[in-house]
Amino acid sequence: TAAAVLALSVSAGTAMASGGCDDGEIVVKFSHVTNTDKHPKGIAASLLQKRVNEEMDGTMCMEVFPNSTLYNDNKVLEAMLQGDVQLAAPSLSKFEKFTKKYRIFDLPFMFKNVNAVDEFQNSDAGQALLDSMQRRGLQGLAFWHNGMKQMSANKPLIEPTDANGLKFRVQSSDVLVAQMEALGASPQKMAFSEVYGALQQGVVDGQENTWSNIYGKKFFEVQDGTTETNHGIIDYLVVASVDWLDSLEPEVRDQFMTILKEVTETRNAESTKVNSDAKQAIMDAGGVIRELTPEQRENWVNTMKPVWEQFAGDVGQDNIDAAQAINA
Ligand code: LMR
Repeated sequence: TAAAVLALSVSAGTAMASGGCDDGEIVVKFSHVTNTDKHPKGIAASLLQKRVNEEMDGTMCMEVFPNSTLYNDNKVLEAMLQGDVQLAAPSLSKFEKFTKKYRIFDLPFMFKNVNAVDEFQNSDAGQALLDSMQRRGLQGLAFWHNGMKQMSANKPLIEPTDANGLKFRVQSSDVLVAQMEALGASPQKMAFSEVYGALQQGVVDGQENTWSNIYGKKFFEVQDGTTETNHGIIDYLVVASVDWLDSLEPEVRDQFMTILKEVTETRNAESTKVNSDAKQAIMDAGGVIRELTPEQRENWVNTMKPVWEQFAGDVGQDNIDAAQAINA
């Protein structure tokens, strides 16, 4: 069961942190920013660590650093290029310095659900995106799912005009800045690790995120409520440096890539469930969740979707058309 896998991977993580790796093993430091449990990325990272350490024992040794304990957000990519960390899985919104093509994933209402995201990523257009940063020294290895984004604030959000004048934390993406500006809100780019404090202290009024992040980092405790907008997605790129990949013996690389592919398929199939469980956990903990009528949601679509025009050149109309064909 998922609980058993989780228990095993948590204990593997503890053993690794205290025991360290053996001499001669290729050490893979994997830095990420979310919780380890009840989170699509955290669970996938733990499973990857467990399998690599069991099946590649003596050859490769993975250490996972969750919760921004090693690096937060975009800093990890610089660290990777320096060789200080070998693996990361930042959200696709955090690659702006390296490629503008990933902006398609931030455009509001581009994908109707995670299945549509999955289908797009597995298409030729999507797979080509894995290679789009090779020139900059980064190689995409796999896409990992989180889920659909919801909006929360320190007041009820029912109509898009309710967001008017509010300050919203966004990830480091100009598309998300434009999206919030379309609502008449003031966007503020901020690292994930700082969001809870900023909401609590009123530095920002609101934020957008998936159920698993809103639950995992307890954002719901310092917000009036969360509105189920499903207006966009948070998904991840498992990424390594081209130099590090080239340094691996082909058989080692192949074995690692096979494990990664299997973990990706297993955990991506569960991401929607992890998020719906997190939504339920928020309600169980007394968090307020508001649903929109179809008419109200249409107002959010009409207010936010015009930002597509600003970014069509960056992402390519062909990619937009491919994504839209999948939604149909
Ligand atoms: C965020 O910054 O809100 C997310 O990218 C965090 C994450 O990794 O899910």
